[in-house]
Amino acid sequence: MDISLKDKYKDYFDIGAAINNMTAVDDAELILKHFNSVTCENQMKYGVIRKSDGVYATDDADQLYRFAKENGLKMRGHNLVWHNQTALNIFDEDEQHVIDELSGHIKYMNDRYGDIISCWDVVNEAIEDKTSEYLRSTVWLDKLGPDYVKKVFKVASKIIPKGTGLFYNDYNEYIPEKKDKIVKLIKSVNSDEKLIEGMGMQCHVNLYYPTIDLMKEAIETYAGLGLRIHITEMDLSFYNYDDNSKLDSPPVDLLKKQADIYGEYFALFREYSEYIDNVTLWGVSDSYTWLQYFPVFDRKNWPLLFDKEGNPKEAFYKITDF
Ligand code: GLA
Repeated sequence: MDISLKDKYKDYFDIGAAINNMTAVDDAELILKHFNSVTCENQMKYGVIRKSDGVYATDDADQLYRFAKENGLKMRGHNLVWHNQTALNIFDEDEQHVIDELSGHIKYMNDRYGDIISCWDVVNEAIEDKTSEYLRSTVWLDKLGPDYVKKVFKVASKIIPKGTGLFYNDYNEYIPEKKDKIVKLIKSVNSDEKLIEGMGMQCHVNLYYPTIDLMKEAIETYAGLGLRIHITEMDLSFYNYDDNSKLDSPPVDLLKKQADIYGEYFALFREYSEYIDNVTLWGVSDSYTWLQYFPVFDRKNWPLLFDKEGNPKEAFYKITDF
């Protein structure tokens, strides 16, 4: 049975993968067979592409852009404003300077890569995880003030052409307390005009958390705000978040459990495909995943749909069995 993921899902949503300069070469065949959308794992982030002297170092991003363009893949632009991997030296002067720098950056990215970018994660992870606090404390908040997310979306909406979706992207987006804060943020940004057009649900999940019901409620909540939904960074870890135990190889029963859970999530995504345009996995195959380094260093993990050799796992067969 020779199944292509993107073909199987063509009537539902695009299927994406986060790629980097290694996987775009090593896993090129797998990517082209199964995915029709890609996201640069790190290469387009503000603090990665723009060096401290203000000069842009575009070789890595250009290579991924060419790979996508030559092969007719869409690209999710990731990301413009984040507390991590950001261009710290733009914050030395006043607020207007930061806004001017950011405008220049967005123009630069749009001119260089915009022709294949289907949407941008304009702001990533602005919400604080601690229940007692609302916005995460960041340089952006410090400099631009409590309505910085709205300011940033306003800047982006003037530069990025209509039709390229403007997304807010976050993790733990299904935890009720955090979800409420995300809703509050989106409502306040969109109070006068619809600046945020889409919700990026990162969907970094594991074998134990969350429940399908929490995910379903989250999809319904964000769709209820009139937003398009992208699943932007899905992977399904073998461990509870920072569990220190380390497995040497994936136990058969857990591979099966993973397959069942992947199956349930994708059935849910199909059920809500009226609202969901893109489901992106945070990686291509288990040969490379950030979860081998974070949050526990050197902990083997097998969170994706293809094994280290690039063969479809049981999870792949579960999500294509409909
Ligand atoms: C967050 C970011 C991604 C990436 C992952 C870890 O989810 O949005 O860009 O850095 O963390 O790989």
